[in-house]
Amino acid sequence: MFQFTKARDAGLWAPFLASLSKYGPMTTLRMGSQTWVVLNEPQVVADLINKHGKITNERPEMPIAGDLVSHGMRTVIRPTASWTEGRRVMHHLLSGSVLRVYGNWQEIESLQLLSAYLDDPTRWYAHHYRYSIAVLYRLVMGENLDKTQAELDDYQKVTMEFTWSLLRSFVDYFPQFSHWVPTALQWWRPVWVKMGDFHHRVFKDWWDPIRNAVQDGTAKPGFVRDTLLHPEMRYKGSEEEAMYLATSVIAAGSDNTRMTLNTFLMAMISHPEILARAREEMDAVCVEEDGTLRLPGMADFEQLPYLAAMVKEVLRWRPTTPITPQHQLTEDLEYEGYYFPKGTCFVINGIALSQQCDEPDRFDPSRWLDGNEGNITQGLWAFGGGRRICVGYRVAQQALYVAMARLVFCFDLTPDGPVNTRKLNHFSLDKQPFPAKVTVRSPSHEELIQQAAKKRECFLMSVRV
Ligand code: HEM
Repeated sequence: MFQFTKARDAGLWAPFLASLSKYGPMTTLRMGSQTWVVLNEPQVVADLINKHGKITNERPEMPIAGDLVSHGMRTVIRPTASWTEGRRVMHHLLSGSVLRVYGNWQEIESLQLLSAYLDDPTRWYAHHYRYSIAVLYRLVMGENLDKTQAELDDYQKVTMEFTWSLLRSFVDYFPQFSHWVPTALQWWRPVWVKMGDFHHRVFKDWWDPIRNAVQDGTAKPGFVRDTLLHPEMRYKGSEEEAMYLATSVIAAGSDNTRMTLNTFLMAMISHPEILARAREEMDAVCVEEDGTLRLPGMADFEQLPYLAAMVKEVLRWRPTTPITPQHQLTEDLEYEGYYFPKGTCFVINGIALSQQCDEPDRFDPSRWLDGNEGNITQGLWAFGGGRRICVGYRVAQQALYVAMARLVFCFDLTPDGPVNTRKLNHFSLDKQPFPAKVTVRSPSHEELIQQAAKKRECFLMSVRV
């Protein structure tokens, strides 16, 4: 258990999680009062999480990460009884018509990313964060991201503290402690209570303006106005639950996208031949016969299979989420000659799963070129599985595709010093996580970005009006 709480300390690569696969497709760990089964191979994940999803989608009691840090309302770890209503509403994030609208917004926000790469290339990691959160903010709140740096820093801190709180406290491994020990004697509480109250305050600061705008009819199109609080949706949750739902979607979506874009850059600077091949594919589509350039966009997706495969390979090569939150079994289960008692916790070991292929350390998008490269969840467990599968996987795929396509097309991406491809340093926020150099590809590409940025300004002005 002690090793498990420290599993991520080496960064998201987590060698401890990788080592668990040496015991076979499943590894049983007895931690605290619970039995955990770590799923290391695709077949057991498909069987236990997808096929038996009806009885493996509960979340266990988590007095720390769930109750104190999340006030019992963060959707990703809520018990099923209180989770289903929010999931019903969030399901709209996967609908085709909504995704087309979101795709337009993602294209618009990516122009800001390109301009930022051009104007301030050494801060590429900060631009990844701004792009990722701006996309989610526009999509959920309907607004241009107008937050100060301090507000963005607070939001980032909230996301990182929450992720950190998962698996960290011994009480979540022995949930009974929170019932046995009287509240006044629970010496562990103050630090987590303070953390949870801080998260609540930050969420409220972000939520109140949009809730007020919806009430007075001035809100812009977005998930909150058109789905969550739309009268036809008949959302049955409380005001607080709506707040946690909207802000959790922003947090879950933006930080994972940010980290994945960092991984993409690491892949590009360490595999120049792959960058060259992706660019060749893109040049064939986006450079006219007379040499005129245009930016790749959502409409080109079908014509850029290598790029689509690259999105999947980035998520496989260095998984953004090394393990999913525990899926708890709600009935006894016999499977492949094993007996799992009710209450067993299953976790998807993203690190071990990512190694189940030839030359796993090699970044090679072509391994996904099987006609399913556009289907992001086919053969890839980066978004979890079963009924709890990431509800934003299509939004994520679009956000990653647009950003990667445009960066590959417009910028040279090279190392700026020695790099260790397993040291992504995802939590280094105020300096480069690894040494990368980004340089615009040519004066024509620079011109293309500047023209597009002007169009973005015009678009934003028209939206403001
Ligand atoms: C590369 C990007 C992303 C990755 C790797 C990722 C990964 C995940 C994983 C592993 C889970 C847990 C699944 C499970 O327990 O089996 C999850 C849940 C979730 N994700 Fe994502 N995600 C990403 C992007 C997004 C985006 C863009 C959004 C929003 C549009 C989003 C919203 C959510 C939400 C709301 C949940 C909780 C779902 C629920 O409670 O039903 N994610 N994500």
